[in-house]
Amino acid sequence: MPDKVALVTGSSSGIGLLTAIELANNGFKVIASMRDLGRRDRLDQAASAAGVSDKLDVQRLDVSEFAAMPAFAEKLVGDYGRLDVLVNNAGFAVAGFAEDVKLDELRQQFETNFFGHVALTKAVLPIMRQQGSGHIIMVSSISGLHGAFSVSSYAASKFALEGWSESLRLEVNALGIKVVLVEPGAYKTDIWDRNAHVVEKALDGSSPNRERGAKFKERVQGIPKRDPIEVARLIARIAQDPNPRLRYLVGADAHIQLWLKRLLPWKWHEKLIARMLKVD
Ligand SMILES: NC(=O)c1ccc[n+]([C@@H]2O[C@H](COP(=O)([O-])OP(=O)(O)OC[C@H]3O[C@@H](n4cnc5c(N)ncnc54)[C@H](OP(=O)(O)O)[C@@H]3O)[C@@H](O)[C@H]2O)c1
Repeated sequence: MPDKVALVTGSSSGIGLLTAIELANNGFKVIASMRDLGRRDRLDQAASAAGVSDKLDVQRLDVSEFAAMPAFAEKLVGDYGRLDVLVNNAGFAVAGFAEDVKLDELRQQFETNFFGHVALTKAVLPIMRQQGSGHIIMVSSISGLHGAFSVSSYAASKFALEGWSESLRLEVNALGIKVVLVEPGAYKTDIWDRNAHVVEKALDGSSPNRERGAKFKERVQGIPKRDPIEVARLIARIAQDPNPRLRYLVGADAHIQLWLKRLLPWKWHEKLIARMLKVD
C-alpha cells in the first residue's frame, strides 16, 4: 500500500518541525512546508538524525499568500494523487496590551493564524471530498478557549479558528473528513521569543501600559514550558486515528486553566489570575 500523504505548515521550527518528523517516523510521506526555504537546516538535520530524510518533501508555502494556494494544492495532487492529513500549524503571536494593538497588527495576526488556515483548508477540501477521507488538524491553543493577558489578538485569532473548525467539522463529517482542534498549553518553542511580534507602541515606548508590560514580560519568562515533542506525538496519533475527537487539550497547564474557568464563577477566576500575575 502506498504511503499516506501529510502536509504540515510551518515546519521550519517548533511543533511543525517535530510533527513533520513524527509523521515521517510513522510511515507518512510528509510535505513539510515553510515560508522561507533558507530556514530548512534544522528540519533537514532532524530528519537525517531520525533516518527519515527520504520521507520528507520540503516545499515553500507562506500561509498568508492565499492566491498561491489553489496552485499549491493542484501540484500536490499531480505529485502524490492524494492528501490524507493536513496539519494547519503555522502561526505566531502578537504580544501587547489590547489598548496598544493597531488594527493593522490585529489584521496581520488573523491573516496567518486564522485566514491562512482557512484558505489552505479550502484549497485541499476538494481533494479530500473526492477521496471520501482525510484529517484536517488545526493547531489551536488553550488561548482559543481562554482569554489571556497581553495576547488578545492571538486569543481572538484562535477563538475564531475554534468556531470555524467546530462548524466545519459538522459540515464535513458526512463526507468522511475529520476536523480536529489541538489546544496546547505553554511549550518551549520560538513562539515565545523569535516569533513573538511585540506591538509597535510597546517597542517605541509610547504605550501607557509600559510598566505593566515590563512586569508581565518577567512573569511570562518565568512560565514553565514543556517539551513540544508531546504535541507532535499527539498530532501523529490523531492523524492515524480513524475516529478522532473534535478537541485535544494538551499540557497540564492547559487542563488546569480550562478546569478553573469552568469551575469558578468568572469574577473569582479573574481575581485568582490577577493575584497570580501581580500586574496591576
Ligand atoms: N509553543 C506554544 O506554547 C504554543 C501553545 C499553543 C499553541 N501553539 C501553536 O503552535 C503552532 C506552532 O507554533 P510553535 O510554538 O511551534 O512556534 P514556532 O517555533 O515559532 O513555529 C511557528 C512556525 O510557523 C511559521 N510561520 C509563521 N508565519 C508563517 C506564515 N505566514 N507562513 C508559513 N509559516 C509561517 C514559522 O516560520 P518561520 O520559521 O519562517 O518564522 C514557524 O515555522 C502555532 O499555531 C501556535 O499558535 C504554540
